Amino acid sequence: METLIVKMPEGGEEAYEKAAKVLKDGGLVAFPTETVYGLGGNALNPEASAKIYAAKGRPSDNPLIVHVSDVGMVEGLVKEIPKAANDLMEAFWPGPLTIILKAGDAVPRQTTGGLDTVALRMPNHPVALELIRKFGLPIAAPSANASGRPSPTKAAHVMEDLSGCIDMVLDGGEVQIGVESTIVDLTGDSPQILRPGYITKEMLEGVVGSVGIDPAVAHINEGQLISSAEPPRAPGMKYRHYAPKAPLTLITGSEEEVTEALKKLALKARAEGKRVGIICADAAELEPFADKIYHVGNRTDRSSQAKLIYDVLRRCDEDELDVIFADDFGLDEDIGLGYAVQNRLMKAAGGHVIHGEGD
Ligand code: TXA
Ligand code: MG
Repeated sequence: METLIVKMPEGGEEAYEKAAKVLKDGGLVAFPTETVYGLGGNALNPEASAKIYAAKGRPSDNPLIVHVSDVGMVEGLVKEIPKAANDLMEAFWPGPLTIILKAGDAVPRQTTGGLDTVALRMPNHPVALELIRKFGLPIAAPSANASGRPSPTKAAHVMEDLSGCIDMVLDGGEVQIGVESTIVDLTGDSPQILRPGYITKEMLEGVVGSVGIDPAVAHINEGQLISSAEPPRAPGMKYRHYAPKAPLTLITGSEEEVTEALKKLALKARAEGKRVGIICADAAELEPFADKIYHVGNRTDRSSQAKLIYDVLRRCDEDELDVIFADDFGLDEDIGLGYAVQNRLMKAAGGHVIHGEGD
């Protein structure tokens, strides 16, 4: 199959009609959202969901997020809409928040990975919203990467992983946020965050009162390995995602401590004949110490880090490194967007953390 790629908004009405037709025929269309690119199929068609799992090479027990273009669409997909869900939808939709509710009978269990709950989100991106409207039905869409690879933040990433395996890509340029939506589960006694994202715990608490964090997610952020004794409640969080081929080690400490530790580690690794990559905030000072340097913006600029981290992790693979060292950017102090960035970096590092001198 040849994958058709169309630039948006230039492709206009014709592109939306073509994409909607692909979805009606049970095919797959990748599209931009404000977080990352999604790989869309008809959420109500079990065969389309099966195609999504096959294209990504994704385990079929890992449920898909169902995307809607208006709140009215949610009613037909769930058993009931609790007040907390209404309040969160009103406060944050369209936007980077996914809510989990009890699934209605209309939602195929292929789409929910066999669960009786369903993840729902209204993305804040004109191309995504127009595509769902044109199609007229909810769209199931995981991130449009091959399973285990970093989520795509531009159409070229989608093509790297899925070219030839899907029907169409709507290319809306680079995404705004760069890490996936916050997932909050509303099926228990109180709301619980299953995946951190742009919408923080504090933002959610401003609307629905006390919100918990899945203990397994908190442990990932503390650098602990994912344990099968206490699996994360979002099935997708248990996989060793985003990890580049070369081992990645995170360095914690003050800016000076981290810079000194990065220099020492890089010198030692190069003396052993290794090709070294460094992910950092101060490229100029560290440039001479690495074979490849990846700059993700100012040390405290969480938006820039979120936006660039997946692209950097992909480039680490292209650049065929032996080892990667990364500044942890002081993320362990951060409870905002930095908490989401730290979650992705910790998963990329597989829990390998070193404390810089004096930390
Ligand atoms: O920002 C996003 O959410 C992007 C864009 C495309 O919308 N989508 C995305 O989808 O990140 P995906 O499939 O890569 O991640 C979905 C996560 C997985 O960890 C999955 O296990 C979890 O959501 N999930 C989905 N349905 C669930 C459910 N019913 N209960 C618990 N976790 C669920
Ligand atoms: Mg994903």
